[in-house]
Amino acid sequence: MGTRMIHIDNAFLREVVEPKKLASLQPRLAQAQRQLAEGTCPGSEFLGWRDLPLHPDVQELARLQKTAKTIREEADALIVVGIGGSYLGTRAAIDFLTPALSVTKPRILYFGHNLDSDYAADILEQFDPHKVFINVISKSGGTLEPAVAFRLLRDRLSRVLDSATMQNRIIATTDPDSGLLCEMAKNEKWTTFHIPPNVGGRFSVLTSVGLLPIAVAGLKIDALLEGARDMAKICRASQDMESNHALLYAALRTLFYESGKRIELMAAFHPALHSVMEWWKQLFGESEGKDGKGLFPASVDFTTDLHSLGQYIQDGSRTLFETILWLEKTRRSIAIPESTDNSDHLNDLAGKTLQEINEAAFQGTAKAHSDGDVPVVILRLQERSEYALGQLFYFFEYAVAISALMLGVNPFDQPGVTTYKNNMKKLLNQK
Ligand code: PA5
Repeated sequence: MGTRMIHIDNAFLREVVEPKKLASLQPRLAQAQRQLAEGTCPGSEFLGWRDLPLHPDVQELARLQKTAKTIREEADALIVVGIGGSYLGTRAAIDFLTPALSVTKPRILYFGHNLDSDYAADILEQFDPHKVFINVISKSGGTLEPAVAFRLLRDRLSRVLDSATMQNRIIATTDPDSGLLCEMAKNEKWTTFHIPPNVGGRFSVLTSVGLLPIAVAGLKIDALLEGARDMAKICRASQDMESNHALLYAALRTLFYESGKRIELMAAFHPALHSVMEWWKQLFGESEGKDGKGLFPASVDFTTDLHSLGQYIQDGSRTLFETILWLEKTRRSIAIPESTDNSDHLNDLAGKTLQEINEAAFQGTAKAHSDGDVPVVILRLQERSEYALGQLFYFFEYAVAISALMLGVNPFDQPGVTTYKNNMKKLLNQK
């Protein structure tokens, strides 16, 4: 097994969390872990995510790598059409693993995750129809936002391409047997990849949903799966919070929730983690927020948001705890240069690296917030690699399942999401 890439540092929790209280959660943790392992928990028909990295579908993976290679050779752009779990994991991986201001080759564009006219019009002008592939992703096959985007794209392509070429450029990722998209893909003979029926949307990043576009972006999906596999082994083998930090994280969240906290604020000091936090918000928000319960998952980008939301976090209503996701090793190092005139008075910092200054911001913030009655959990992530991200994905998936079961809710459904959809359908007179 490789190096452990993520662990909890409780430096700021020593005075806040009583060891006895934490230990008292052990039986509930063990019960949730047992339910997960035995498949006896609510929503047990959606436990496929547990085994994805341990028993990957080798044939699907080989086909996927071949398709990714073709797209990389032939396309300038891949458009990922999907919403929620059908695109957030992909975006998290690509934004985490590629440089901030560079564009991947081919470019990855995202469509179908909003209904804004200007965004749609912009996307439709962003690609050469002769050099584009479309990966339409929907587990249910009928979600309105991606369906609308997909129709717009097909309309655009059909004006320029013959039907054989068009057929070749569309790849559908959906349920193997049911739903509109599955039906359309069969009729139109599009290349199709499958989302296993027992894997829910927000737990699907390690299926073809995430793996195909991530591979098209030139990233190593084998290493991603290897990281997830190693974390799966840790999460499933150990019942002990000391060695299994996914359990410790679930326990701390439970403790804070039961002591009256209502918001978990995730904070990162690295822009590369922004989209990871977006993925995390969906995973935790949809899995736990039901039956009138659950922590509200929010996120902030530091130090940027210290100059906007920092005041509230420090002094506003005390309903928060904070989880800082700290990246130990940046890929590149930049030092502050010495200046001869020192007109900006920064020579005190000359020779220090930006990571050292960022770390001082992180430590200073953690202490300030913790002193201001916002408990601070620190999640230390070792590096920006596929392997580390694979561990992080599995860590959060396992932790949310345990945490939601301890809360007494079904982690794997999302009944509340249909209410706005029904209202919208009525307003649009849609059958
Ligand atoms: O977690 C979930 O299942 C949802 O959030 C879905 O990912 C999201 O609603 C998109 O659904 P679909 O893939 O069916 O279009």
